[in-house]
Amino acid sequence: MPNLTADFHTPAQSCRFFVHLKLILQYFKPLIPRDTIQSIIDVARIDEVVGDFVQLKKRGVNLLGLCPFHNEKTPSFTVSPAKGIFKCFGCGKAGNSVNFIMEHEKYSYPEALRYLANKYGIEIEEQEPTPEEKQLDTDRESLFSLNTFAQKFYTRTLHESDDGRAIGLSYFIERGFRDDIIQKFQLGFAPTAWDAFTKEALKSGYAEKYLIDSGLTLSKDGKLYDRFRERVMFPIHNLTGKVIGFGGRILISDKNKPKYVNSPESEVYNKSKSLYGIWLARNTIVAADNCYLVEGYTDVISLHQSGIENVVASSGTSLTTEQIRLISKYTRNITILYDGDPAGIKASFRGIDMILEQGMNVKIVLFPDGEDPDSYARKHRSADVQAFIATSASDFIAFKTRLLLDETNNDPIKKAALIHEIIETISIIPDPIIRPLYVRECSEIMGIAEQTLMNELNRMLRKKVQKGTPKEEQTEVIEPAMIAPPQEPVLDIADCSAQELDVIRVLLHFSGKMAILKIPGNEPGQVVETPVEVTEFICNDLRANQITFDNPTFQKIFDAYAEGVDNQKLPDDSFFLMSADQEVAAAAINILSPKYELSPGWEEIKIHVPTEEEDLEDTATRAIFSLVHRKLSALIHKNQVEMKELPSDSEAWADHLSRDIYLKKARNEISRRLGRILNA
Ligand code: CTP
Ligand code: MN
Repeated sequence: MPNLTADFHTPAQSCRFFVHLKLILQYFKPLIPRDTIQSIIDVARIDEVVGDFVQLKKRGVNLLGLCPFHNEKTPSFTVSPAKGIFKCFGCGKAGNSVNFIMEHEKYSYPEALRYLANKYGIEIEEQEPTPEEKQLDTDRESLFSLNTFAQKFYTRTLHESDDGRAIGLSYFIERGFRDDIIQKFQLGFAPTAWDAFTKEALKSGYAEKYLIDSGLTLSKDGKLYDRFRERVMFPIHNLTGKVIGFGGRILISDKNKPKYVNSPESEVYNKSKSLYGIWLARNTIVAADNCYLVEGYTDVISLHQSGIENVVASSGTSLTTEQIRLISKYTRNITILYDGDPAGIKASFRGIDMILEQGMNVKIVLFPDGEDPDSYARKHRSADVQAFIATSASDFIAFKTRLLLDETNNDPIKKAALIHEIIETISIIPDPIIRPLYVRECSEIMGIAEQTLMNELNRMLRKKVQKGTPKEEQTEVIEPAMIAPPQEPVLDIADCSAQELDVIRVLLHFSGKMAILKIPGNEPGQVVETPVEVTEFICNDLRANQITFDNPTFQKIFDAYAEGVDNQKLPDDSFFLMSADQEVAAAAINILSPKYELSPGWEEIKIHVPTEEEDLEDTATRAIFSLVHRKLSALIHKNQVEMKELPSDSEAWADHLSRDIYLKKARNEISRRLGRILNA
């Protein structure tokens, strides 16, 4: 068994990961000049970009195809060349050309831009890398090249040398590995001699430095010798199929020698971020929307032989958060396939918690007495293996309860401990909507009142909060509605995000359209209808009231519109949808692609929009007033808080009081007018 319990996972660790992630994101801020980004986005036609991966048929002004991001039989994946965006009405994914490539190819933002630049022959003026960066690049390239050389050497030895065939190949054949599978996984054999590989590599011009750095060669007392000797070799690949390391299995049973020898970490091999088999599995994982997780190299290989390809192993290390996040790029669902011995069960418990913590779904299959996926696959036909896995996958509640229930023998104290254990696991789930669903299931299986379990859960959540869980997690844990007894949710007075969003939404939807203002005329009862363009109306009104947006992305969008008003050249949809500013593009895409309708007609879908469009004066005024009202409330609150700190005989206190009165008067006026609109 691998040491799956070695590094214990704590919230603090995942918090540290967040920090890293931020650093990494900063580091990857595109070195591509902004105007180059814009010209890439401008030429990358969405229909052409998507068309490379999805077959599209014309449907009205749009194009329609089968969504590449989820399984579907009737096409609901729509591409709008006019807007430059795609939208799937089945799974809800939407975005522009860059987003499509990022999502489809799992590229980072700069990687996607490079891809598109390449496709359209746009030259990117790369900033000259620093000497350190250059060295790092050379080091990595050399290690990749050496590892590939080693893989070929071991594979050649397996098939062409006498020992290779007699010892290595016959071992694989005895295990039932088919020829095509041996080829597919590039299996090999390390010869018996002390330094056969090292000699060969040196002869081929590989520098000693890289031989040592890759771990393929060890140096002792000035002598060089091979790390892997007389072992069958399993090359380990990165996401794109480059060899980054090896696992070598012993062929005789010798208590003094480890069963597996693995490559050490290097500039190209980071164990906690690698998954054995991922390069062969990633497409199938997306198609199946599920990833099987096994323990060892041979489990992955045997399952492939049984026709199951969406499988990876965390071989050589205990499962890590980074590995789970790597899987989460392809699917939200993981099924753990471990053997049913105590160590396997313990490992699966830990895996369950880690997967849930990432907000992913987890199922578990335990194999019967002493079997692991590999041995089971060897004894059964492919169809039976697939059927067994499909029918024995249980969710973690059922799995944990049944397993632990056997142990408790109806002892009430043990049963209480069991409940505690299961609720603890539920409390790890970050999504407050999902937690109660599992509580219900647990209540049904255990025959214990839902409310009792809920109380236990809330007690645990509260305890976590008190223990000083990192901030990022706290916001998710203190869901007022989740803590019994139910309390009034505490609204954040200063939070104007909903109102800000609404103003931006109205701008994006109706910019360029005319609102008819009804202004009282000179005669009593007379109304003069004055047409005003919506953007002008909103921008000038908010600017006159000196309203700014807390959300910087909304502010950018607003500023672009305001500038358009001043220059009498309003930006259109695509200005935002295809903005080089990722956040602006994402916001526009979110707002402009309707979320809830399933019609592929796109143009017909502007649902609530028609009613809003009928009276644009109302629509715009409501959005403006709601925002102003909210901002006033925030100001009033802030003023009152400050006031409490002041001595009531001070001048400052009196200032605050008159300010309070003034602000409230303004807010009342807004309320009155807002009420008139809402009640109209
Ligand atoms: N492992 C390791 N070092 C060991 C034992 C195991 O790195 N000394 C890792 C290997 O990645 C191995 C995995 O843990 O693939 C699972 O271990 P095990 O089940 O013992 O090995 P299998 O790969 O299943 O090999 P076999 O089926 O031949 O026993
Ligand atoms: Mn095994």
